[in-house]
Amino acid sequence: MADKLIIFDTTLRDGEQSPGASMTKDEKVRIARQLERLKVDVIEAGFAAASQGDFESIKAISLAVREPIICSLSRANDRDIARAAEALAGAERKRIHTFIATSPLHMEMKLRMSPDQVLEQAKQAVRYARTFTDDVEFSPEDASRSDIDFLCRVIEAVIKEGATTINFADTVGYGVPELYGNTLKTLRERIPNSDKVIWSVHCHNDLGMAVANSLAGVMIGGARQVECTINGLGERAGNTALEEIVMAVRTRKDYFNLDFGIDTTQIVATSKLVSQITGFAVQPNKAVVGANAFAHASGIHQDGILKARDTYEIMRAEDVGWAANKIVLGKLSGRNAFKQRLQELGIALESETEVNAAFARFKELADKKSEIFDEDIMSLVSDEEHAH
Ligand code: KIV
Ligand code: ZN
Repeated sequence: MADKLIIFDTTLRDGEQSPGASMTKDEKVRIARQLERLKVDVIEAGFAAASQGDFESIKAISLAVREPIICSLSRANDRDIARAAEALAGAERKRIHTFIATSPLHMEMKLRMSPDQVLEQAKQAVRYARTFTDDVEFSPEDASRSDIDFLCRVIEAVIKEGATTINFADTVGYGVPELYGNTLKTLRERIPNSDKVIWSVHCHNDLGMAVANSLAGVMIGGARQVECTINGLGERAGNTALEEIVMAVRTRKDYFNLDFGIDTTQIVATSKLVSQITGFAVQPNKAVVGANAFAHASGIHQDGILKARDTYEIMRAEDVGWAANKIVLGKLSGRNAFKQRLQELGIALESETEVNAAFARFKELADKKSEIFDEDIMSLVSDEEHAH
């Protein structure tokens, strides 16, 4: 039987850390409701101690959304954790996600703490968080630049304190797939009781490898939770894109052999909502949710698609929520695609000679215009039609 991959969405927390992407409480609730329709497993709704607004948003989402687990981030201190617990009080199912940095650079320069102090604080945080819920996630921040022996000590200790999910954070997008996956594998092999917790991946896209690193963490490292955001929104270059992870796992089920609960037909609606609310446009060539993701422009491809869609499509536009794929008519289009469009528009030309004449005029126009719209075709053929 295939394992389940837990989809943890952090659009409302790490996604919001994207400069300029801040959202109001009502906007966050709208997105959370859509994430529920998408059937994500966990919604990280915010960072309760960060601001009154975040606190209120988590509280509202906890009441409005009942299916997914609602999660709040908190630093590894009592005040943050108590605030997270207070915001989550109304949730049907709640998770506290606590973190502290473990890399030498962060401990020395940012926290100004010794490794032993960090270890103690991590333990204390998880112990305290467990007094509010039995679902506690721990993240060693900047884990991919941390010393592996120290990481083992910290993670072993927090598992003993009751952490149920361990998140291997590639905070600055420094990981490379094979290494990232293998480090996670080593951690799981070295840490006692590692099979008692869920291992999670959390990757940033600074080198454009967030999705690849996450999938390596799953396949090589054995992670069964992926932290991701809609449209890959997030701090700096963003986070792992949910839509890419989900469609990679589904399209290559032969390789990944994993299941998930996501309703993929809700992907495009969710992407559009997040884009509209944040004002962050989705690039046209973005995988899965970009406007061109299922558009075919070259004549050879259009001809192939009209004969059998699998020739140039590895997934269906309809399966992710687009109405249909798109044949874009332009100067690269061939006669077949042109004829197909005539048919769709209900234009029946009398003879092949007329089709050829209309196609020649279409090609002439296409050299002057990047895309030929249906209206262009209708006026192209109107002379022919009026002649009858
Ligand atoms: O990138 C990161 O390290 C984080 C943690 C707080 C999980 O977002
Ligand atoms: Zn992050």
